[in-house]
Amino acid sequence: MSFKDHANNPYASLSPAVWRGSTVVFDSFEDFAVRKTRQPDGYSYGITGTPTARGLERRIADLENARHCVVVPSGQSALMTTVMAFVRGGDHLLISESCYGALKTFARQWLSAMGVEVEFYPPTLDAGIEALIRDNTKMICLEAPGTVTMEMQAIDTITAIARRHGVLTMMDNTWASPIFFKPLDHGVDFAIEAATKFMGGHSDLLMGAISLNDDERYATLRQTQSILGQATSPEDCFLVLRGLETLELRLLEQGRKALEIARWLEAQPLVETVLFPALESHPGHAIWQRLFTGNGCLMSIVLTPAADERAIGAFFDALELFPIGASWGGTHSLIAFYPASEQRARQYAPTDQPIIRLSIGLEPHADLLGDLEKALGAYGEALKG
Ligand SMILES: Cc1ncc(COP(=O)(O)O)c(C=O)c1O
Repeated sequence: MSFKDHANNPYASLSPAVWRGSTVVFDSFEDFAVRKTRQPDGYSYGITGTPTARGLERRIADLENARHCVVVPSGQSALMTTVMAFVRGGDHLLISESCYGALKTFARQWLSAMGVEVEFYPPTLDAGIEALIRDNTKMICLEAPGTVTMEMQAIDTITAIARRHGVLTMMDNTWASPIFFKPLDHGVDFAIEAATKFMGGHSDLLMGAISLNDDERYATLRQTQSILGQATSPEDCFLVLRGLETLELRLLEQGRKALEIARWLEAQPLVETVLFPALESHPGHAIWQRLFTGNGCLMSIVLTPAADERAIGAFFDALELFPIGASWGGTHSLIAFYPASEQRARQYAPTDQPIIRLSIGLEPHADLLGDLEKALGAYGEALKG
């Protein structure tokens, strides 16, 4: 909604209004009888969103070069809602093994039980995906770089194959955000963002966004969002709208710092590998360079192996600027740990060692480096002991 749109913005506020409300009232019986069927874009009840949500959806759609966007209460919900809208029992669903964990669990435990043929494919399969497509393949789920293990996928190669076979594609684009990669421009049908991360940007809300071009699929998706009861808080929509005001600035700064820190970490003797596609050493670097225009702030590292992975505890406990916690993409740096057992349980993994994941925030660069240097020192001591 524009600040010049005085009919809808009588206060002429420069910032968007927060419209709350479950109930939309009608002027007459006649009005109700006609207007209550105004979906998907009209309002008849709060479940499909208020003007605040619509304003946010418009902004995200513009960023994604999309005709439509649907916001939902979390990134996880964006993945599930898209699959639930289009995949049915009897369909075959292909999921990259490095897709977000909750999507894989949902597929394994719920979709399989509902008769969906779920198959996980190696994240770097690229053109090889064609050999996995069956007559009943309905959707391919992609994520680049992959959650925790950070593999890149040749998105354009996969979407060209999928389109040739009439298969839908959904890509989790949270790492790059639409600032650095616009999935729909590369043939993806559904671009997913966990707005919890960069778009919100301040670690104080959860939200997901699904962007797409096709009008019919938009109607299906809006209905699914509504029927599954995936209503999004107007206050959170306001906060994401505010986050979007600084999205590009934050991303450029956090991405720049993350690349410098990744290069520094790569040069440290106690760091075995840095999994970050903007580094020349990353196996997916050429794909990243060809498709993406920048890098996110999230990286994974593998330390020189220790006899006992509890030595990593010394690294974590020495840190002062990296709180330990789930999520990423906010203004505060964060750190998380994924044990070796998780890597070994996977069919396709770049390492059998524990992975440490770092999200780089807006703290001074030198302070972050100093903190990491101290933590590596503590890890070195723990290795000796
Ligand atoms: C890549 C990616 N996609 C989706 C999600 C899920 O988002 P949310 O936490 O909003 O459910 C996450 C959360 O960590 C994520 O990292």
